[in-house]
Amino acid sequence: MYKEIFLFIILLLYTSLQAQSEGEKIFSKRCTACHTIGSGKLIGPDLANVNKRRSEEWIIKFVQSSQSVIKSGDSTAVAVFEANNKVVMPDQDLTPAQIKSIISYIAANSPDANNPNAKVPLQIFNASLITQADIERGKKLFMGEVRFANGGPACISCHNVNNVGMFNGGLLAKDLTNAFTRLSAAGIDGIIRNPPFPAMIDGFGQKSLTDQEIKDLLAFLYNADLQGTAQLSPLQSQLDLLIGVVLILNIVLVIFLFAWQRVKKYSVNLN
Ligand code: HEC
Ligand code: HEC
Repeated sequence: MYKEIFLFIILLLYTSLQAQSEGEKIFSKRCTACHTIGSGKLIGPDLANVNKRRSEEWIIKFVQSSQSVIKSGDSTAVAVFEANNKVVMPDQDLTPAQIKSIISYIAANSPDANNPNAKVPLQIFNASLITQADIERGKKLFMGEVRFANGGPACISCHNVNNVGMFNGGLLAKDLTNAFTRLSAAGIDGIIRNPPFPAMIDGFGQKSLTDQEIKDLLAFLYNADLQGTAQLSPLQSQLDLLIGVVLILNIVLVIFLFAWQRVKKYSVNLN
């Protein structure tokens, strides 16, 4: 009995290694002209961790016929197409099983896949190395003036930061003006890399930010923390205003009712 289980495990290991090496073969023959895994963009995007950004089903359809996915109006596919200057990726005559083997090859060879907590140098935050350009890039990303490479939503749609020259942002989540003091670089890095909050998982779960984007956002938030003090949140001040208005309306109503009573009495007396 133990022998059978043992053999079964060996068989499983063997088939998964087999799949991966098949994936490697196909990848190096058919994909390396345009894609790398972790070495940057060529004609097509860097495919590192693409298995985390997109579903398996999506990747299979896209690889078999990218243009039909794009023409179907799939917003992710359209965004990737536009971000790559509308270069058409040629259809790949591959079976779903072959594409799955490529995906497992990519997953196994993406940076961080074996050790998600390992920091590559880019990710180590050092306040003294921040440049004005980093802060500016971070600000544009935060504000949505520059789109995230993988298409996640702009932070400003949910978060506010009080910073010079900045409009009030979203009210859905906490004000991030002093997030840096509160959470430190490592804390914020962790939250935007692996969001623990459902609202952020919806936005970034499949659309992870790149190391460079995270670095720029950290520079921006560090600077915002230095410059701005969190003011009364806009929601709170709006609430105060609302309470004030309701109170005044009530007073007006009471005066009106009182006056109306008197008018009624007076007109009755006349008859
Ligand atoms: C001639 C160049 C070329 C070849 C060869 C090529 N691709 Fe692409 N690929 C692209 C381009 C360009 C894009 C960007 C999308 C677009 O412009 O349609 C892309 C996009 C993708 C995407 C979507 C990436 C994302 O971020 O969503 C995946 C997945 C992909 N390719 C996988 C593959 C695989 C797997 C192979 C090999 C079987 C392959 N590609 C071969 C050019 C190529
Ligand atoms: C769809 C809405 C949404 C978007 C977009 C969003 N977040 Fe969040 N974020 C939340 C929610 C909800 C929380 C959880 C609790 C809260 O702060 O209200 C949160 C929490 C956080 C926290 C922890 C705050 C704290 O003090 O505990 C940080 C840091 C953060 N987000 C950073 C970002 C950054 C940076 C971006 C842009 C890359 C971003 N978020 C985009 C909704 C969003």
